[in-house]
Amino acid sequence: MAGYNIDIMTLFPETVGDMMNESILGRAQERGFIRVDAHQIRDFTTNKQKQVDDYPYGGGRGAVMQADPLYRCWEYIRETHGPGRTIYLSPCGETFTQGKARQLLRDYDHLILVCGHYEGVDQRFLDECVDEEISLGDFVLTGGEIPAMAVADAVCRMVPGVLPDPECFEEESHWNGLLEYPQFSRPAVWHGREVPEVLRSGDHEKVRRWRRKEAILRTLRRRPDIFRKEDFQGNKQDRKLLAEALEQFRAEQEQRSGESEE
Ligand SMILES: C[S@@+](CC[C@H](N)C(=O)[O-])C[C@H]1O[C@@H](n2cnc3c(N)ncnc32)[C@H](O)[C@@H]1O
Repeated sequence: MAGYNIDIMTLFPETVGDMMNESILGRAQERGFIRVDAHQIRDFTTNKQKQVDDYPYGGGRGAVMQADPLYRCWEYIRETHGPGRTIYLSPCGETFTQGKARQLLRDYDHLILVCGHYEGVDQRFLDECVDEEISLGDFVLTGGEIPAMAVADAVCRMVPGVLPDPECFEEESHWNGLLEYPQFSRPAVWHGREVPEVLRSGDHEKVRRWRRKEAILRTLRRRPDIFRKEDFQGNKQDRKLLAEALEQFRAEQEQRSGESEE
């Protein structure tokens, strides 16, 4: 068993495999930190045509994925790799977040992700085999592959050893209720736009403070819904930065409301 195991049930295993075997996650698989396998649901049909869908009872357009091929595929995965937390990717599920990815990493070491297509999946398979449903957001895609890859990627990059250092993800957006600060690379001036002076100063403490304040400001401006003031109460330096950022944010808001009144 790898450190973390993911089996994806899909009608497009090549697409999923191509994506999950590349780059950081590909190397992590080679080094045995994670295992990600995609399984062709069609291989588990019992009819010659390898048909996996049929018309919906009650009428209406489209087709529904039948319970039996899904069940056989799910059973095969459990017999081969052991039981796992089974998740159906669905627009009707709980919206996926960084917090959810952390919980999946903390509580399980094996996920079975079920990708639907057409109008969805026979409810009886969901009732019998699925532990929970996860949505990528309030929109509808043609299939569950993109959401499954998003879940697998978000969880796997936090598995110890996959990234060089936990700092790689602990400083990123959504880890501590903040969005990330703006990033810059060379050259120092591009199209007349300069990289902020402080980032070129070599003063690590000044850089840290600038980044922290920019992260607070960006979150206040763009995502006040995720901003959690209480996260900053413990640290004296952070409280000072928070006060400065709040003052700047209020000044920006006043200026904006002044402009709209003119
Ligand atoms: C066209 S959708 C089916 C939508 C379904 N008829 C409904 O209205 O809820 C086909 C498949 O794509 C996947 N899917 C679509 N949107 C999704 C989303 N926002 N999050 C997760 N999976 C999604 C699901 O696996 C679903 O079975």
